[in-house]
Amino acid sequence: MNPYQGYAYAYPHKTAYRPLPARPGLRQVWASEDRSSLFLYLHVPFCEMRCGFCNLFTQSGAPEGLTGSYLDALDRQAQAAAEAINPASFASVAFGGGTPTYLTAAELSRLCDVASRFADLTAIPFSAETSPATATADRLAVLKDRGVTRLSIGVQSFLDSEAHAAGRPQKRSEVDAALNAIRSAGFGTLNIDLIYGIPGQTHRTWQQSLSEALTWSPEEIYLYPLYVRPLTGLGRRARADAASAGAARADPADQRLSLYRLGRDHLMASGYEQVSMRMFRRGPAPSAGTTQYCCQADGMLGLGCGARSYTSALHYSPEYAVGISRVRRIIDSYVATPDFTNAAVGFALDDSERRRRHLIQSLLQAEGLDRSYYRERFGADPVTDFGAELAGIEAMSWVEKDADRIRLTPEGLAHSDVIGPALYSPRVRELMGAYEAR
Ligand SMILES: C[S@@+](CC[C@H](N)C(=O)[O-])C[C@H]1O[C@@H](n2cnc3c(N)ncnc32)[C@H](O)[C@@H]1O
Ligand code: SF4
Repeated sequence: MNPYQGYAYAYPHKTAYRPLPARPGLRQVWASEDRSSLFLYLHVPFCEMRCGFCNLFTQSGAPEGLTGSYLDALDRQAQAAAEAINPASFASVAFGGGTPTYLTAAELSRLCDVASRFADLTAIPFSAETSPATATADRLAVLKDRGVTRLSIGVQSFLDSEAHAAGRPQKRSEVDAALNAIRSAGFGTLNIDLIYGIPGQTHRTWQQSLSEALTWSPEEIYLYPLYVRPLTGLGRRARADAASAGAARADPADQRLSLYRLGRDHLMASGYEQVSMRMFRRGPAPSAGTTQYCCQADGMLGLGCGARSYTSALHYSPEYAVGISRVRRIIDSYVATPDFTNAAVGFALDDSERRRRHLIQSLLQAEGLDRSYYRERFGADPVTDFGAELAGIEAMSWVEKDADRIRLTPEGLAHSDVIGPALYSPRVRELMGAYEAR
């Protein structure tokens, strides 16, 4: 069985969202929500390049003036959201993308001003993503000065040849310069993203990348299995290769599971704690402001053309796409939007979807599901609600239960990308299946 069915980092997946005919006003959407501990997310959909593996909502480069107009639109959206949501209290904030540090230092400062409409950024955990080519001292200085506590950089591989094979024209000298600059700036938490399963990667080169990463003593490391998705550069290359070699050509051996085990064991032997299949942490401080920091019940306000927002009853976002021309069109239409007071696209969660979301989000964390917290929220035990599904996972020896918790075994965690999608509801599965990637 292929252990890589899908990355269930949020439930339901964005491809299950659909246009909301009633276009509910944000004031109504947030009116009866608990707004005492929200997560604020600002999305920047620009990068200096479009990596061959990446299907995130982003475009390579920005024509003259577009980043400024994007910030203007973000500010309009923030104002509309603030009018609908305040008074509200935010527990953490994150800038993601894309690559937020594609923006200049002055533009990053404006981005912080937008976020400051909602919270004192220096008083809460504050995370930002960066890339090797854009982590320059002037940008980092702004982020540090404005309160960023966690900086996350995508390195993918410390070997240039492997980064290139993943479709990322990266230079090791640039990676080292960026990491030096980040460490000199003094952020409390450094996270490094690495990818395994890159064409040509071996156990030896993977081990080499892991060891190089550890020389920077990152407080966090994310290990991502490579997914080759249809509308990406690698996806197009794979299709062309398959076509030229004939349909019967076998896939090259998939080593991701053995590379995962090697990576996990290497990090745990080096003092890291496993937080989830992808996330590893050194030291005691809980990581906040990351995409995985979502207490199952907390709401999220997302701003920007690729950002979702979560309330207990509705998840909503602007339109979603992967293909380059559609991404550009959506960014252009976002920038031209005068009025952000309504939710346009989304998914309404009923009580059963809320329970399911809680189950999936908790089970895919190493610490597992706290049964009494679930009972407190929903008035029933998770085994009563999801007995049949859990029995299927138990039959594979992927989950263990005691009176307090339900948690994945080490092999269960290794198979998170099977377990997550297997727990999706029939309705979400149907919507995702009917979604046409564009
Ligand atoms: C927003 S990016 C990180 C910041 C920055 N844009 C960069 O690339 O340096 C998020 C991370 O997701 C991971 N990622 C994205 N697409 C992936 C894919 N198809 N397979 C595996 N990992 C992927 C990469 O490790 C990447 O660093
Ligand atoms: S991996 Fe990062 S830099 Fe590359 S396209 Fe995706 S978001 Fe942009």
